[in-house]
Amino acid sequence: MQNYRANIMMCAGTGCVACNALKVKDALVDELKKQGLENEIQIVLTGCNGFCSNAPIMSVQPEGIFYQKLKIEDIPLIVEEHLLKGRPVEKLMYREPEAKTSVPLMNDIPFFKLQVLRALRNKGMIDPENIEDYISRDGYQGTAKALLELTPEEIIKIMKDSGLRGRGGAGFPTGLKWEFCSKVISDTKYILCNGDEGDPGAFMDRSVMEADPHVVLEGMIIAGKAIGATKGYIYVRAEYPLAVKRLQLAIDQAKEAGLLGDNILNSGFSLDIEIYLGSGAFVCGEETALMRSLEGKRGMPRPRPPFPAFKGLWDKPTVLNNVETYANVPQIIINGADWFKQLGTPKSTGTKVFALTGAINNIGLIEVPMGIPLRTVIFDIGGGIKKGRKYKAVQLGGPSGGCIPESLLDTPVDYESINATGAIVGSGGMVVMDDTNCMVNVAKFFLEFTADESCGKCPPCRIGTKVMLDKLIDITEGRGKESDIDLLLDLSHDIINTSLCGLGQTAPNPILTTIKYFKHEYESHIIDGWCKSGVCKELSTFYIDPELCKGCGLCLKACPKGAITGEKKQPHKIDNDLCIKCRSCYIACPAKFGALKIGPGNMFAQSKK
Ligand SMILES: Cc1cc2nc3c(=O)[nH]c(=O)nc-3n(C[C@H](O)[C@H](O)[C@H](O)COP(=O)(O)O)c2cc1C
Ligand code: SF4
Ligand code: SF4
Ligand code: SF4
Ligand code: FES
Repeated sequence: MQNYRANIMMCAGTGCVACNALKVKDALVDELKKQGLENEIQIVLTGCNGFCSNAPIMSVQPEGIFYQKLKIEDIPLIVEEHLLKGRPVEKLMYREPEAKTSVPLMNDIPFFKLQVLRALRNKGMIDPENIEDYISRDGYQGTAKALLELTPEEIIKIMKDSGLRGRGGAGFPTGLKWEFCSKVISDTKYILCNGDEGDPGAFMDRSVMEADPHVVLEGMIIAGKAIGATKGYIYVRAEYPLAVKRLQLAIDQAKEAGLLGDNILNSGFSLDIEIYLGSGAFVCGEETALMRSLEGKRGMPRPRPPFPAFKGLWDKPTVLNNVETYANVPQIIINGADWFKQLGTPKSTGTKVFALTGAINNIGLIEVPMGIPLRTVIFDIGGGIKKGRKYKAVQLGGPSGGCIPESLLDTPVDYESINATGAIVGSGGMVVMDDTNCMVNVAKFFLEFTADESCGKCPPCRIGTKVMLDKLIDITEGRGKESDIDLLLDLSHDIINTSLCGLGQTAPNPILTTIKYFKHEYESHIIDGWCKSGVCKELSTFYIDPELCKGCGLCLKACPKGAITGEKKQPHKIDNDLCIKCRSCYIACPAKFGALKIGPGNMFAQSKK
């Protein structure tokens, strides 16, 4: 094996590839050759490193210098200055928003510093297409231990003691699920991996599958031994082609190495794993629907019991776990339950991966100990709200999650504490919203999604989500009635209590939490005809406060309709007859001036009277 002076870890995750990472890599290959460094410096293409908002990125190891937002033109400078002369290039490093100094080392950047990597421990550190890279970082040691040293009962005991709860949304204890299934007597059992990841904005599972596919296989092999399964399927949505490619490569490599297939590591245990492509229906993430879909039928949930541990795929005992859940398993087996419990809270042990997105400076994927305050996640790791705007809420748990207001920002991120707010940890989507978001509109957005994705099998969900959506549309378009708020609350509770599956049972959460914490916004829409964030067009009028306007002209430049006039350094004005209420001016006006104001929808009509 060749030794290199330095390794350049180039992110080739979906986000970086979309930002030209592969062309930057080609330029790097050429430049290293030009400078005669190709035998001294190795380029490793990795999966998503997590800091996607700064794509494309790379780190130079072993020292850990981090470069971001790279362009092809930057490459000769990095090679000449850093790799030849040993002078890292400051201008391509990370800089704190509004700070003057750069942060050279990846682990000193706040985004990375407060994270603890377990499920994502290999992200950015290995070539996911090379099994040797994986093996060099403890890969398949958990499998070896589980298959050669432990009985199924011992594996299950470690998993139960660890307290690991399923990361796919419901947070059900993983060891307990395995125990139920292990006790059922059957000639055939199945082990399934849920890589459907239907939540909009979420990409935790995709990243694990792309950056570290072998860890998923390992988790399934260990679970397979625990329950006595001989066949496994990974259900991945077809929109994840890179994840599918890398998983298939990993399966092929593991089989060739005797780590998957017949008589793994001569242990007497055999497991075959296949990938199954889902076509992207949200409801197919629900476990019973997923199994139907795998059987080649229409993916629709069925009542439970019987639970899949007893009657699952093709009516055989089956365990289904999420990608991130499996990614935790090998390290738990290697290091033990106590090690896992060192992080987190007593009831929510370990770490959780979150996809941080929305109105936040550092968008990307993070892994943090359970119990960390939301404020730390949003302001320290996430770098706070973009453009100096004001935090309004964070939507946690995807379309069936809830919105958490500023007053609850110190809530610890664990299953119990988040549930107490009305939101859910869910699979880990975290969408941060600032003061330009309208919470009624946010509820409408999520209801549009759930109403659209309802499979239609049971009336409360099929009809109820549609009726609630229609009410929300009415409110955002100025036809709301005061009684609508109570109607929405009543309907929410009915739908939660009578729907067949988790989709209907959680769909009202965005409505319930926005009414709980932002009822004044509903009232303002209905009673005053005023959407104070300017999102609902019928209920907004844009105007400029001449006292506050600095005449900087940013709004004028942003306006697509030429509705704004004004001289430099003089107060500007909006012609409401031309204005189409696109909000571009409102977003463009610097928060420190705050000169662009929003009045009620009928404000102009009133002022004419
Ligand atoms: C509508 C709906 C969609 C779901 N989508 C997913 C999904 O995309 N990925 C996932 O892992 N779990 C999803 N779940 C949860 C799964 O049904 C199941 O509980 C989970 O995969 C079990 O794995 P875990 O115990 O490791 O979390 C969904 C549940 C519902 C009700
Ligand atoms: S709750 Fe909704 S998604 Fe679930 S089975 Fe009923 S109609 Fe289908
Ligand atoms: S809301 Fe849009 S159209 Fe209206 S003034 Fe502002 S930028 Fe122009
Ligand atoms: S962006 Fe704001 S401060 Fe600048 S001209 Fe427009 S309203 Fe005035
Ligand atoms: S894809 Fe490169 S950092 Fe996420």
